[in-house]
Amino acid sequence: MAMKGDQVAKFVTFEGGEGSGKTTQIRLAAEWLRERGIPVLATAEPGGTPLGQKIREILLNRGAWTIGAEAELLLFAAARAQHVRETILPALAANQWVLCDRFADATFAYQGFGRGLDAKFVKSLNAFSSLSLVPDRTLLFDLSPEIGLARAKRRVTGLRPEAAEDRFEQEERAFHERIRKGYLTLAAAEPDRFRIIAAAGDLDTVRGEVRDQLECLF
Ligand code: TMP
Repeated sequence: MAMKGDQVAKFVTFEGGEGSGKTTQIRLAAEWLRERGIPVLATAEPGGTPLGQKIREILLNRGAWTIGAEAELLLFAAARAQHVRETILPALAANQWVLCDRFADATFAYQGFGRGLDAKFVKSLNAFSSLSLVPDRTLLFDLSPEIGLARAKRRVTGLRPEAAEDRFEQEERAFHERIRKGYLTLAAAEPDRFRIIAAAGDLDTVRGEVRDQLECLF
């Protein structure tokens, strides 16, 4: 479907646990939108700016140094503060769609539900770092941690030895179960914003579902 000239750009976030396939799907979705003549920026958290990339390297380090839950929360917030101001808001202002691989919901799910940090504080920190920016739509790639972690493990097999699982993939199963539950709780609280995608499906099926969801925003 061609986009009308007066179309307002959308901010769409892709969320989910480890190995949910969202990173591949965001790439496919961005290509698909571009083919339709829609200007799109595909970006990711933590990351999306030079500072964010540095923070990402620190956060996903493989056990080289200790990062407590509180420091972890603040580092994700710092990456987001820069990302929103330097990358996301300017792109939206230039009428580019922004597809973002994880955003504030990831902090609720991982640091709030997963690490057990105070939900109220996480909420106000999220609002501060994101300038209260809320996605127009959030696609939640839902998958059992068992399948997701097995997929994530396969992804790193065959890579150089130091490219083993990152800090989050090494967490115990219960942590990933809490994250899944957390995401589903967020989705239930905001049914207008969230759409749940059954991420266990094959790539083409999931790609079709993502397209259907994006088309709803045209
Ligand atoms: P990725 O696997 O999507 O690249 O994300 C990197 C990791 O960072 C992933 O394990 C989820 C985690 N994460 C958080 O714990 N909190 C956050 O706010 C974000 C954005 C990511």
